Amino acid sequence: MEKAMMSIVILGAIAGLTEGFGVLPDGPLNAAVDGTFMFTTSLSPTQTPFVSVVWSFEVINNIISSHAASNSSPPEYKDRITLFPSTGSLELRSLTTADSGEYSVNIIPAGEATLVGQTTLNVYEPVSNVTVDPKSADLVEFKDSVNLSCTSFGSPTSFLWLNDTSEVTASDRVQFTDGGSVMTIVNVTRFDQQQFRCRASNPASHATSEPVPISVSFGPENTNLMLSSPQEYFAEGSNIRLVCSAVSRPDALFKWFLNGNLLTDTGPELTLTNIQLSQSGNYSCQASNSKTLRHQTSQPSAITVLEKILDSSVKPSINLTVEGTSVNLTCEACGSIFTRTWKKDGSDLILDDNMMLSDNNRLLSFNPVNRKDSGEYSCNISNPVSSDEAEYNMVVN
Ligand SMILES: *[C@@H]1O[C@H](CO)[C@@H](O)[C@H](O)[C@H]1NC(C)=O
Ligand SMILES: *[C@@H]1O[C@H](CO)[C@@H](O)[C@H](O)[C@H]1NC(C)=O
Ligand SMILES: *[C@@H]1O[C@H](CO)[C@@H](O)[C@H](O)[C@H]1NC(C)=O
Ligand SMILES: *[C@@H]1O[C@H](CO)[C@@H](O)[C@H](O)[C@H]1NC(C)=O
Ligand SMILES: *[C@@H]1O[C@H](CO)[C@@H](O)[C@H](O)[C@H]1NC(C)=O
Ligand SMILES: *[C@@H]1O[C@H](CO)[C@@H](O)[C@H](O)[C@H]1NC(C)=O
Ligand SMILES: *[C@@H]1O[C@H](CO)[C@@H](O)[C@H](O)[C@H]1NC(C)=O
Ligand SMILES: *[C@@H]1O[C@H](CO)[C@@H](O)[C@H](O)[C@H]1NC(C)=O
Repeated sequence: MEKAMMSIVILGAIAGLTEGFGVLPDGPLNAAVDGTFMFTTSLSPTQTPFVSVVWSFEVINNIISSHAASNSSPPEYKDRITLFPSTGSLELRSLTTADSGEYSVNIIPAGEATLVGQTTLNVYEPVSNVTVDPKSADLVEFKDSVNLSCTSFGSPTSFLWLNDTSEVTASDRVQFTDGGSVMTIVNVTRFDQQQFRCRASNPASHATSEPVPISVSFGPENTNLMLSSPQEYFAEGSNIRLVCSAVSRPDALFKWFLNGNLLTDTGPELTLTNIQLSQSGNYSCQASNSKTLRHQTSQPSAITVLEKILDSSVKPSINLTVEGTSVNLTCEACGSIFTRTWKKDGSDLILDDNMMLSDNNRLLSFNPVNRKDSGEYSCNISNPVSSDEAEYNMVVN
């Protein structure tokens, strides 16, 4: 406890050398070059003139000695000071950086003990011409880092950096070095695409640089292929529009592939007009970014082109059907055949023991044919884009 008290006393004594004590305010006090500074004492104005007031700079340099209303000042101070006799305060004008230092005053009031005061004044060059190097930066996300370095004229004592309008704080990715005049952004992200500015300050002034645009390229991501109509099967001769999109800065460039083979088309849209069977296959697009040199390929979209079903027919193996013989009805059509379904007299066909369907429902066989098999047989041939139906009226004699 006693030790702690002792330390405080010693610290106080050391601090007293640089900070104000006595009748002057605590320092350091701040002022700007070319400005004016008023050293105001803590004394109330007195009616009785002081016996003497003496101001000095850096202990040994006399600024003004005032004894019984007669003042003397050296030439370097004469024209730029004013002494206020009732308080002992002093105004100092046309400041230069050479005026930085320790000021002390010694006042002898009439019939009282001597009063002393001491403080420190720092005169700062106003901060100006704050510039950041580089003036701009063109970076790639998750790859590049950048150092922004701030310089200024004047006597700056601190720097801070603005990200658009908010102050940048240090983090894993953002470091400050050289007293804050260098800001390093490590491994930039797309969100760092902002205007950065440096503000240099000293206690007397501050100034801010021009904004430094940082651009950050990224992507492509989420490369996605969409068809104008979301289906797999298209009729021959139809038109299809494929649209590719990706998240990218700058905008992605696109290439197109059919079954992995590069097509000549470029751009985000691929239009297939009057599409032919040979154009069936898996389509995909690839987005690429000229800045990041990265690319990404979409999931493939399968497109199957089908011929329309035309000219369907049901033909008997024999025109004159006689009970007890065998007969085949054949269902045929042109086009891309997926399914055939049979009906008899408008209802779904029920196969009896003497009937058989074969060759994917192409052939309906009767063996032997019976008089009850007489009727209207229809066959519907279809694929996902079209269908056609044919009929045959079978009379069993
Ligand atoms: C500002 O600083 C830059 C770089 O330090 C210098 O080239 C330029 O002349 C200065 N401009 C003024 C007005 O001082
Ligand atoms: C950059 O950041 C990304 C995501 O924040 C991370 O995946 C990557 O490893 C980092 N790269 C480097 C070189 O630090
Ligand atoms: C940034 O400055 C640091 C230290 O001066 C240096 O190690 C680093 O390579 C610099 N980075 C860039 C991107 O210039
Ligand atoms: C700049 O601000 C944006 C949001 O305004 C933030 O996402 C980004 O991380 C900031 N970058 C730096 C380097 O402070
Ligand atoms: C299209 O892709 C599917 C699987 O994604 C594959 O089964 C099929 O064979 C491909 N078609 C062509 C024409 O390559
Ligand atoms: C059945 O008759 C049609 C029209 O009369 C004929 O074109 C066809 O060739 C005949 N079929 C058989 C198997 O005789
Ligand atoms: C009917 O088709 C079957 C199977 O192809 C064949 O074996 C049979 O000979 C055909 N019958 C007639 C009468 O054409
Ligand atoms: C033929 O079948 C297709 C597919 O099942 C169906 O859409 C169409 O309506 C049918 N046609 C007729 C004439 O019944």
